[in-house]
Amino acid sequence: MSSEIPSIAEQVDSLLARLTGRFGAKILVATAARNDTPDLLWALYKIAYHNPLHMVEIGTCHGVMATVLGLVAQHVTTVDVATYVPAHAGSPGGPTAFARVADVFEVAGLDNVWAVLAENEAEKQRFLRASPFDAAFIDGLHETDAVLADFEAVRKCGFVLFHNVSSHAKVKTAIEQIGDVTCFGNFGLWRE
Ligand SMILES: C[S@@+](CC[C@H](N)C(=O)[O-])C[C@H]1O[C@@H](n2cnc3c(N)ncnc32)[C@H](O)[C@@H]1O
Repeated sequence: MSSEIPSIAEQVDSLLARLTGRFGAKILVATAARNDTPDLLWALYKIAYHNPLHMVEIGTCHGVMATVLGLVAQHVTTVDVATYVPAHAGSPGGPTAFARVADVFEVAGLDNVWAVLAENEAEKQRFLRASPFDAAFIDGLHETDAVLADFEAVRKCGFVLFHNVSSHAKVKTAIEQIGDVTCFGNFGLWRE
């Protein structure tokens, strides 16, 4: 039966098709917004049910997941750090990847998503301390201490999603230390 309102899955498919149509499949490199496994939808339904007024994402890359989050959260701000140096040439992240964000947001056609490139970790932490938000998504530096620090900075919101909980051992270690994280595929959810 067809519905006039597209499902979240249809909206994600359509958004990713627009982005890959414009930028090619490489725009999806390193993004959590992969629609070939069910865990993205699991995470999006959890967010939609929570219905956040303002969701913060840590770790922007090209801004693809930020646009997908914008489908289910009322407002989204994604933050990255200018100091991040990708491990090798062609590896995503940092200011070079961030330079595509404005184009990605334009093609996505959403007016509820913003991006901030903090000068460094201290500025990122100041931004997070000063911002009111009621949901967070952690997908920045995949080191145990970095994930723990990001969690401490956003746990005040009471709803924290993580990515790479099964694919990155160091993220997994952080998740185990945090405890009370429900995992599905490569996503995990902590709720106060
Ligand atoms: C896996 S990518 C993010 C992908 C994005 N969340 C998505 O799903 O489309 C990781 C990003 O984290 C950023 N990053 C690295 N260290 C960071 C830190 N300490 N704080 C915030 N972001 C960081 C990198 O610059 C890179 O853009």
